Amino acid sequence: MTHLVLPVIDVAPLAGAVADPAIPVPAAALAVAGRIQEACREHGFFYVTGHGVPAMLVAELAEASAEFFALPAVDKLEISMERGGRAWRGYFPVGGELTSGQPDLKEGLYFGAELADDDPRVRAGLPLHGRNLFPRQVPRLRDAVLPYLDAMTALGQSVLAGIALSLSLDARYFADGYTADPTVLFRVFSYPPAPPGFHGWGVGEHTDYGLLTLLAQDDCGGLQVASPDGWIDAPPIPGTFVCNIGDMLDRLTGGWYRSTPHRVRNVSGRTRLSLPFFLDPGFADEVPPLPGRAAGGGRHRWDGQDLRAFTGTYGDYLLGKVAKVFPQLQRDVL
Ligand code: OGA
Ligand code: NI
Repeated sequence: MTHLVLPVIDVAPLAGAVADPAIPVPAAALAVAGRIQEACREHGFFYVTGHGVPAMLVAELAEASAEFFALPAVDKLEISMERGGRAWRGYFPVGGELTSGQPDLKEGLYFGAELADDDPRVRAGLPLHGRNLFPRQVPRLRDAVLPYLDAMTALGQSVLAGIALSLSLDARYFADGYTADPTVLFRVFSYPPAPPGFHGWGVGEHTDYGLLTLLAQDDCGGLQVASPDGWIDAPPIPGTFVCNIGDMLDRLTGGWYRSTPHRVRNVSGRTRLSLPFFLDPGFADEVPPLPGRAAGGGRHRWDGQDLRAFTGTYGDYLLGKVAKVFPQLQRDVL
């Protein structure tokens, strides 16, 4: 397809921007925010470097994940999502998840913030909150996932500081607001090689639901992003994360920033591993447009949905989405 069009942004100058409210925002951070604004307006996608997440941590997580997916099906199914109950965690086999009603050619693991049984949100029976399911056969996976969640949450907060600045908001706008108690979701996907003549998708066309997605991908390629000129590739760049904005940032900005459709087809001939991390608003947060940004206009979305018409909390929105991708599980556990 095409050469690289998505920008690569070094976010290192943002790290300090959420650290201390007493320190004025450095000019370098404002410059990064300017680049983020351009990327969010133009593509809704960009690459992140200077992120400070140790390469060893990503590599260890990728290796541990590959070790898990190589287990016999019966072992993987020991932690199947049916056993995760309302916390909505665990393993699903190939074809177990639907995008736009079609089964995806991928298997995967759902993780989230690790909450103990006595956490008030878990006791209140809040869906998608609770303990993770980790495989007993690959203990190193747990040891990699938990620090990864912490590292990626910190990175996500930094990038959100840049997004806040890019919208002329205080750097701590998200960290003190929507992501003070964020919804953190993390998935590990393994995409089998597409068989010859396969016309389906590893993951079908969709937008992400929340604020921010940070994706680590291996060297197989296959991620495609919608653009006004058609689909463009988001090829692997070692040491980076692909960052894209979700429906809640689209909603907040009245469509000024757009959650951009994307999809995956793994034609590498190898098994593709990807690690999407999602940093989203608190479950109970309503996410109305920012002042002065409500008038996005009647833009037509890929799926005909009007993001502004939705009323309710982010939790309501998320549950409506996950119910569609796992209809059976939704009937059984929610
Ligand atoms: C997602 C997604 C892309 C990938 O999980 O929302 O778009 O490469 N993943 O796995
Ligand atoms: Ni996505």
